[in-house]
Order: sequence, then structure tokens, then C-alpha cells
Amino acid sequence: MKTTISPSILGGSFSNMERTISELDVSKAEYIHFDVMDGDFVPNLTFGPQFISDLRLKTNKIFDVHLMIYRVSKYLDDYIKAGSDIITFHYEIDENINDIIERIKQEKIKVGIAIKPKTSWEKIKKYLHSVDQVIIMTVEPGFGGQSFLTDQVEKIKNISHYIKKNNLNVDIEIDGGVNYETGKLCVNAGANILVAGSFLFKQSSLTIATNKLNDFFN
Ligand code: DX5
Ligand code: ZN
Repeated sequence: MKTTISPSILGGSFSNMERTISELDVSKAEYIHFDVMDGDFVPNLTFGPQFISDLRLKTNKIFDVHLMIYRVSKYLDDYIKAGSDIITFHYEIDENINDIIERIKQEKIKVGIAIKPKTSWEKIKKYLHSVDQVIIMTVEPGFGGQSFLTDQVEKIKNISHYIKKNNLNVDIEIDGGVNYETGKLCVNAGANILVAGSFLFKQSSLTIATNKLNDFFN
């Protein structure tokens, strides 16, 4: 099965975003991962919809938008209008999950549901028939550059088994601490999309690092 790479621009300097996007634009990565944080759902604050819509003009890559925010319903339309191709929000917010899923689907863009490391995969079982992807967090959401939580591999195996057994068309995206070794554990467990931030940005060429990671898995 193909493995899609979704480089997380959170790993790059915000002063250099146009350059980051152009380096990714010429890479083999199909997706670009955007980490939206509200300083409340997670202890960090990043960017809003205008940042995404401005960068939307610079590339046709698939924008994989990861909302780590409360009040998703309030801001959802702004992230749709900004040009997101996939919007993933967290199960742990206190809102009507089905309403949010339906609203995103109306726009014919893909929808995902994400879970934090301490949330069991069974909690999102009932949504798996209506989403396009799940994000299994393999670090506590909030910051790039953390170490991969190996105890999440079992969760990936279990959700992958359930998805296959029920013939569901749901991608399994892994977010946090991905490198060659940890990515391999995830892909072997059934994941097919890998987010990678600091591992790519610490290498001298973002384009080459991204291509190497892509080629390693494909
Ligand atoms: C963490 C974010 C991740 C992060 C990944 O809250 O959701 O997407 O940027 O960065 P690395 O690959 O450095 O763990
Ligand atoms: Zn993310």
C-alpha cells in the first residue's frame, strides 16, 4: 500500500514560510500539514485561516489541516474558505461531532477525526463509517520535536484491524515524532499517512529530506 507523506510546516521558521512551501511544492510529498492551535485546547498558539489562505496561492499540494482548537463549529467556515482540502478536528472537544463531520462533507472536502495519546480508539469507532481519515497522535499535541510514544503502536494496530475488518475507506495518519524507524513501526501497524516535522526540517535540504522519506516508504 502507498504511504503518503504530510510534512508539518510547524517544523519550519514562520519567517520563511513562502520558501518552505516552495521547497515542499517541488518535493514528492502529496500533502502539506498545517497545525492550527488556539492556546487553549493545547498549550501553544500558531496561526489562523488567513495564514492558510495566503499560502493557498503558492501551491496546489493537498492542504491537510489539523485543528487543535476548541470551538470548531464557530471557526469551521473560515478554515473551509481558506482552501483546506482535508480538515481534521479532535474528538476531545465538547461539541456535536456528527454535525461538524456533516458540515465538512457538505463542502466536498475530506474530514478527519484526531485522538490524543490518552484517548482510546474505541471512542471514535462510531464515527469511522463517516470520516475519510483518523489522526492518531503519537505525541501530546501542542509542539513539534517531541519523542514518539511507542505505546501508541498497539492503538494503530487495533484501529487498522477494525477498519480492514469492516471494509471501511479510512486513512490512518500518524502525527508526532515520525522518522524512518518510528514511521516504519506505524506503517507496519497499518498507517498509510505520515506527518513529519522536525525530522525533515533539521536536515539541510527540506526537499531532499522529504523525497528520501517518501522513497523509503514507497
Ligand atoms: C503536534 C503537531 C504535529 C507536529 C509534528 O501537536 O500536531 O503535527 O508538528 O512535529 P514532529 O514531527 O516534530 O513531532
Ligand atoms: Zn498535526
